[in-house]
Amino acid sequence: MRAMRFERFGGPEVLEEAEVPGPVAGPGETLVAVEAAGVNFGDIKQIAGEHTEGPYAPRGPLPHIPGMEVVGRTADGRRVLGYVRQGGYAARAVVADRDLVVLPREVSAGAALALLVQGLTAWHLLRSVARVRPGESVVVHAAAGGTGSLAVQLAREFGAGRVIATASSEEKRAFALEIGADAAVDGEAGGYRERVLDANQGQPVDIILDAVGGPVLDSALDALGFLGRLVTYGASSRQTATALLPSRLAVESISVGGFWIVPLIARDGAGGKELEELLGLTARGRLRPLVGAAYDLGRARAAHEDLLGRRTPGKLVLRP
Ligand SMILES: NC(=O)c1ccc[n+]([C@@H]2O[C@H](COP(=O)([O-])OP(=O)(O)OC[C@H]3O[C@@H](n4cnc5c(N)ncnc54)[C@H](OP(=O)(O)O)[C@@H]3O)[C@@H](O)[C@H]2O)c1
Repeated sequence: MRAMRFERFGGPEVLEEAEVPGPVAGPGETLVAVEAAGVNFGDIKQIAGEHTEGPYAPRGPLPHIPGMEVVGRTADGRRVLGYVRQGGYAARAVVADRDLVVLPREVSAGAALALLVQGLTAWHLLRSVARVRPGESVVVHAAAGGTGSLAVQLAREFGAGRVIATASSEEKRAFALEIGADAAVDGEAGGYRERVLDANQGQPVDIILDAVGGPVLDSALDALGFLGRLVTYGASSRQTATALLPSRLAVESISVGGFWIVPLIARDGAGGKELEELLGLTARGRLRPLVGAAYDLGRARAAHEDLLGRRTPGKLVLRP
């Protein structure tokens, strides 16, 4: 079958198209003929060799087929969404039954793929870690991105007060406003506090969701109010934050939490009530996952370059 794989760690250029033997489903697994596969920032990190241990490391020696999400057909004709841990960038993939859901007819392949890693992450950032309460202000970094654009919409859905988006371009900020943010500002570290407080009617904020890391995370801490919570769930900037001192948390009565979806799915499976909720919200038109771009599978490299170049909003998908 057709697949994209890498034989050495590196940037997008190490992804190569190859003809490989198809996977075989074992007990408790289902073979899926892939209609579309999701691209995640995490794939880029895996290909770069940033995860050589733990649940996100390539299984076994290289070469390796990346990709965590697929939509496709089972042999008995069901149209399903599945979390695959690896092997998604291919014409066929094997999904554990606990990580598989049947898709509602109203939900497109691209929208469904957005809801899996990115949608579930946004759900848990707000519900399980930040525990957003009605009326609280929420700042979403990289709000036009895959995870960010869903976090903006879910914050609204979960009863947040003011939702403030950050994004790096006018187009992305306009998109963030269109999907429900009350304000959208540049997310750069310099002048961050002034811009965010200004967007929050002069007040410090309750919740900040950050996966940029480095100086942006450091600056964001300065914008948190009393009992404010920052959730860190990535470091797209590949820089390290330095202002996160335990003594500061106590003095300022602020909290910093973390979240990673991979061990959560390993523990609970992907196909639980949270994913059903996201699919239901989408089917009813209350949540609008945006597909920013679709690429032929053989152009996975271009998809990664676009994601790294901050050129695309929403979810990126590959079509085998
Ligand atoms: N912990 C988890 O379970 C989990 C799950 C999903 C994703 N994540 C993390 O969340 C982040 C977003 O992932 P995603 O898949 O949803 O991607 P994404 O948001 O669609 O794309 C990344 C966005 O990050 C922003 N960014 C800021 N600095 C950047 C830099 N130096 N290089 C590239 N992008 C930069 C860009 O938005 P602007 O141009 O607007 O700044 C870009 O659009 C990643 O760090 C990813 O690892 C974590």
